[in-house]
Parts: sequence; structure tokens; C-alpha cells
Amino acid sequence: MAILVGILIFLCVSISSIQANDVLVYKDPKQPVEAGVNDLLQRMTLPAKIGQMTQLDRENITGDIIKKYNIGSLLSGGGSVPRQNASAKDWVIMINEFQRGAMSTRLGIPLIYGIDAVHGHNNVYKATLFPHNVGLGVTRIGAATALECRATGIQYAFAPCIAVCRDPRWGRCYESYSEDHTIVQQMTELVPGLQGDIPPGQQQGYPYLGGN
Ligand SMILES: *[C@@H]1O[C@H](CO)[C@@H](O)[C@H](O)[C@H]1NC(C)=O
Ligand SMILES: *[C@@H]1O[C@H](CO)[C@@H](O)[C@H](O)[C@H]1NC(C)=O
Repeated sequence: MAILVGILIFLCVSISSIQANDVLVYKDPKQPVEAGVNDLLQRMTLPAKIGQMTQLDRENITGDIIKKYNIGSLLSGGGSVPRQNASAKDWVIMINEFQRGAMSTRLGIPLIYGIDAVHGHNNVYKATLFPHNVGLGVTRIGAATALECRATGIQYAFAPCIAVCRDPRWGRCYESYSEDHTIVQQMTELVPGLQGDIPPGQQQGYPYLGGN
């Protein structure tokens, strides 16, 4: 009975939200971004807007919680991993479940997942690890990190850290490229790589993640 009621509610909601000639501008990639944004905002309720502006740590979250509160974003805080030695597959399974919750909301806005992929996708067991900022800063490392992040379903790397460390006694000085801000500015060449620019001359589909 509960299932039948659920199906009936689902049908009613589906019918009321998808009218015959209701054009979903925000789902059409050919429309200008502004048109999509205006269309989407008009469809959002206040609770959906609040949920979309919220980013929660993944711990204790389920796909159903994301669905219920229209959560827009999750992150892995320091050390917040699905389990010890979690493989790329474990991450994909976890994030797919979160994404399922987001995509099953009325508006189906995909979830954004953020993580400290600061020297490679460094929370993932057997991912490629690179030196910390104090020892790196090139496009190719950004591209490799981006590829491994996307392979686990993650779109958002909290990197690079652009701190300008002036006192090496600061415990996280290694996250700074330099005490000279002009060097820090130059080293942000990592950014185009993280944003998906594949360095010229790289073969496509190059394997970084544990050789797979
Ligand atoms: C997750 O739940 C446990 C048990 O209630 C709690 O101790 C912990 O702080 C929660 N984690 C987060 C990130 O809220
Ligand atoms: C995690 O991996 C390390 C290094 O391979 C290993 O020593 C440890 O036993 C593993 N822990 C678990 C819970 O699998």
C-alpha cells in the first residue's frame, strides 16, 4: 500500500512539474548561461535555494539526506574518506550514491563534490602523489590531478593553495610556493591543468590512476 501511495504521489508530482510544453531551459546546454540561471531560479523554492548554498562534510550523509534537503555540495574535510585505504572504486561508489540523491530531486541539480586534491588526488589510495606546493607548480600536475579527481566522480579540487608563507615556523609552510608573492603568482600555472587543459603533446587517456 505504501508503495502504491508512493507511486501515485510520484506520478502526480511528475505530471505537475513536467507540463507538456514546459521547456526546461536550464537543462539545455545550447541556451546562454544567464537564461539557464534565470529559468532555474524561478523554479527553485526557498528551501531548495538554502540547500543549494550549503556544503556539508560527507561524514554521516546519505543520498536520501541530500535529496530531502536539496544539498548542493559535499566536501571531504581533512581525512574524511569513505574507509581506510579507500580505492578509486570505493570513491566512485560513494559519490554515485550521493549524486543519485541529488539527481532524484525535483530539479535534478547535480551535486558538486570538493576535496583537498592538493598534491595529486592525495586522499585516494594508490592515486599518483606529487610533491607539496613548496616543490611543484606546473600545468601537467594539475591535469593529472584533475583527471584522477574526475575518475572518482569529483569535480572540485581545493587547490592550489596560494598562501605566501613569510615565516617557516608556520606548520603549513610547505603548502606555500614561496615567501615571494611574484613566485606564487607564477606557480599558479597549475590552475589551467586543474581546469582541464591537457598539456600539448600529451597522449589522450594517459593512465595515471594505478595504471587503470
Ligand atoms: C557524525 O556522527 C557522529 C555520531 O553522531 C558524530 O560524532 C560526528 O561528529 C558526526 N560527523 C560530522 C562531520 O558531523
Ligand atoms: C592500508 O594500507 C597500508 C599500506 O598498504 C597497510 O599497511 C594497512 O594495513 C592498510 N589498512 C587497511 C585497513 O587495509
